[in-house]
Amino acid sequence: MILVSGGAGFIGSNFVMDWLAKSNEPVLNLDKLTYAGNLQNLQSLEQDQRHIFVHGDIGDASLVASLLKRYRPRAVLHFAAESHVDRSILGPAAFIETNVNGTFTLLEAVRGYWSALPEDEREAFRFLHVSTDEVYGSLGPDDAPFSETTAYAPNSPYSASKAASDHLVRAYHHTYGLPTLTTNCSNNYGPFHFPEKLIPLVIANARAGKPLPVYGDGLQVRDWLYVSDHCSAIRRVLEQGRVGETYNVGGWNEMTNLSVVHALCDMLDQLDPKADGVSYRAQISYVADRPGHDRRYAIDARKIERELGWKPAETFESGIAKTVQWYLAHQDWVQHIQSGAYLEWVQQNYAQRSVEEQVL
Ligand code: NAD
Ligand code: TYD
Repeated sequence: MILVSGGAGFIGSNFVMDWLAKSNEPVLNLDKLTYAGNLQNLQSLEQDQRHIFVHGDIGDASLVASLLKRYRPRAVLHFAAESHVDRSILGPAAFIETNVNGTFTLLEAVRGYWSALPEDEREAFRFLHVSTDEVYGSLGPDDAPFSETTAYAPNSPYSASKAASDHLVRAYHHTYGLPTLTTNCSNNYGPFHFPEKLIPLVIANARAGKPLPVYGDGLQVRDWLYVSDHCSAIRRVLEQGRVGETYNVGGWNEMTNLSVVHALCDMLDQLDPKADGVSYRAQISYVADRPGHDRRYAIDARKIERELGWKPAETFESGIAKTVQWYLAHQDWVQHIQSGAYLEWVQQNYAQRSVEEQVL
């Protein structure tokens, strides 16, 4: 079996479902169920014996050690993290606790387990660390996209904590020989994306008749990848990646935030037009920028394409259509998430950003 950490979050739950749709190998899913972890994401696996869920913290050394001893996974796929940049600005401590200390504790437990395995199992074992392109910092408009050799220059507490975890993983390979793999992926979107992130937030706010908050001038650039393409890249790296290597994963799809918001409004205008015929674009409002906001991310994905033959299956057009359709069909999921704790967060994050302009 494989052990997945953080498998009740956005990407982790998509990964677990994709994995079990394509393979019969069981998954041990260890998740702390923070605000971002949601067992509803995994409802389709409720009766599936191949999915074993454990409610627990990667920072709990004895729990992790006992799970490894009992279930003897052939690989650990590490998704668990605090993942939202704005939250890391308002409260960085949890990011250090989980992303740095938690990854360290997990690595130590895995090292203990791995080093006691019989030789053939030790050789076949993999620790795959799921990371982000944000560790590379911010690009200028004419800079080449991030490659695996770009120097790390993280700018937010989130990206700094992920960079630290990447370095720990690297060191565990270099020093102890732990068979690690690291992926650095661009922005994901798709089903089960928590509506604090740009794309699901815009869909939810648009339908609720609320403002669509665009930070600063909205001309920051991100590379967007449909989540199932990230999952297929992780599976490919797990099976064929060279031990100790890192792989950048991206969709060659750079877009400004404003053009993403426009695409979402246009899609909603088509699929769920407002009764008064006014475009959802009328709800766009420019708000104060994120402190230290990275201007541009772009991924050079040639290494994973060349060495492992991976390519994304979705274009932004096909992925965003699937995503909007999914959110329209899963209003109950969105409403359930938008509970007390979510509302408190929205209040905290947006109260301090005065609305600067309403765009028609
Ligand atoms: P998410 O916030 O949706 O989910 C994180 C999950 O981890 C949640 O289920 C949460 O309960 C769990 N978790 C948090 N702390 C934990 C702990 N101490 N112990 C056990 N479980 C814990 O995040 P996501 O967007 O699914 O991201 C998953 C991983 O992918 C993260 O490592 C993130 O850095 C990375 N990543 C995300 C993106 C993106 O666009 N979302 C892009 C590249 C890489
Ligand atoms: P986000 O989804 O938080 O991902 P990340 O910061 O990890 O890239 O944000 C994507 C982009 O959208 C980022 O440039 C910040 C911007 N953004 C807004 O303009 N308004 C919002 O309300 C949010 C949440 C993000």
